[in-house]
Amino acid sequence: MNMRDQFKKLKIRNSKFILGNTINELKHLETESIDMIFCDPPYFLQLTKELRRPDMTVVKGVKETWDKFSSYKEYDKFTNLWLTECKRILKKDGTIWLIGTYHNIYRLGYHLQNLNFWVLNDIIWNKINPLPNFKGTRFTNAHEVLIWATKAKESKYTFNYHTMKKMNNNKQMRSDWNLKVCQGKERLKDSLNKTLHSTQKPEELLYRIILASTKQGDMVLDPFFGTGTTGAMCKKLGRKFIGIDSNPQYMHAAKKRIMKINPIDTSNIESVAISSSSKKIPFSNLLKKGLIRPGEKIFNSKESIRATVLSNGNLKFKKVEGSIHKIGAYVQNKPSCNGWTYWFVKQNNKVISINDHRNFLREEISSKE
Ligand SMILES: C[S@@+](CC[C@H](N)C(=O)[O-])C[C@H]1O[C@@H](n2cnc3c(N)ncnc32)[C@H](O)[C@@H]1O
Repeated sequence: MNMRDQFKKLKIRNSKFILGNTINELKHLETESIDMIFCDPPYFLQLTKELRRPDMTVVKGVKETWDKFSSYKEYDKFTNLWLTECKRILKKDGTIWLIGTYHNIYRLGYHLQNLNFWVLNDIIWNKINPLPNFKGTRFTNAHEVLIWATKAKESKYTFNYHTMKKMNNNKQMRSDWNLKVCQGKERLKDSLNKTLHSTQKPEELLYRIILASTKQGDMVLDPFFGTGTTGAMCKKLGRKFIGIDSNPQYMHAAKKRIMKINPIDTSNIESVAISSSSKKIPFSNLLKKGLIRPGEKIFNSKESIRATVLSNGNLKFKKVEGSIHKIGAYVQNKPSCNGWTYWFVKQNNKVISINDHRNFLREEISSKE
């Protein structure tokens, strides 16, 4: 079986792997169907010479054909094509992330603003362990820049402020992120045990981005998927994803990598999402709307803990009664819990997060506004 056939046979829930040219493939995606897009496009580094370390070993730079363009004009045309499609595909309240180095980030930002995206932040990814400047001819290139933007100025985007604050020792998360480059076991190897991809991004970076700007069950798109770092973190955090890349070797490796990832229970990490689009919805509203019935059993992701839904919107666990958050914390013996991401119900033989019901109500409200 060749690599393309092997690739097609591997199936992963809530995901779509598209092998092809992103410029063509994006055209097939539905308008306003994606909650967040992460774009790590070619850098157009224009490297000509081989770079060697002091011990004369060769540095694995970006020399692949996918990073080659004949001129800035061609690179700009390419950028404008995929960014235009991203704008069409992104939901009205969705956000887009672009990452690049000094070689391309200014061009990406220029096209982004020309297309009337609205920039929310630029983030400096400060590499704790950058590659030294071996020749000593310039400053050590120790960071990459990310741009985070909405589809339009008035978009009601998701920003999980409290989750970020919690991740940052209860201080507001700043726009300078100190993270390591991808290394060690995380770095994918080819059949010769050589680095598979020259620009594999660290999981920690995508973990933070996804937690900051999406909700459980959201759809994420990565039009330059590479080794599938975005997909790996989406699966881990319970988000759906679509990945596009033109290189079958990368795509095959990405799929194999993502198959091995286990989703985690994010209830300890994710605080109640504070989104500019989020309307406060009490749990009792789910009962009023008939989405959950009094007396129904509600349980955690492992289905090891069960509580009963009461008609006043509280839960009862053994003799203890309280809100979804209070009982969630009580059963875990923790000081607090986000009940929205902790509890699930079984309906029509499907396990559904109560957060999905809340999102449904939110969408119903915003469609009437
Ligand atoms: C900077 S890398 C992305 C690395 C990825 N974020 C990771 O963590 O592995 C850019 C990727 O875009 C892909 N690519 C470049 N041009 C493309 C195109 N026109 N269509 C589809 N994929 C493309 C390359 O194969 C490469 O894997």
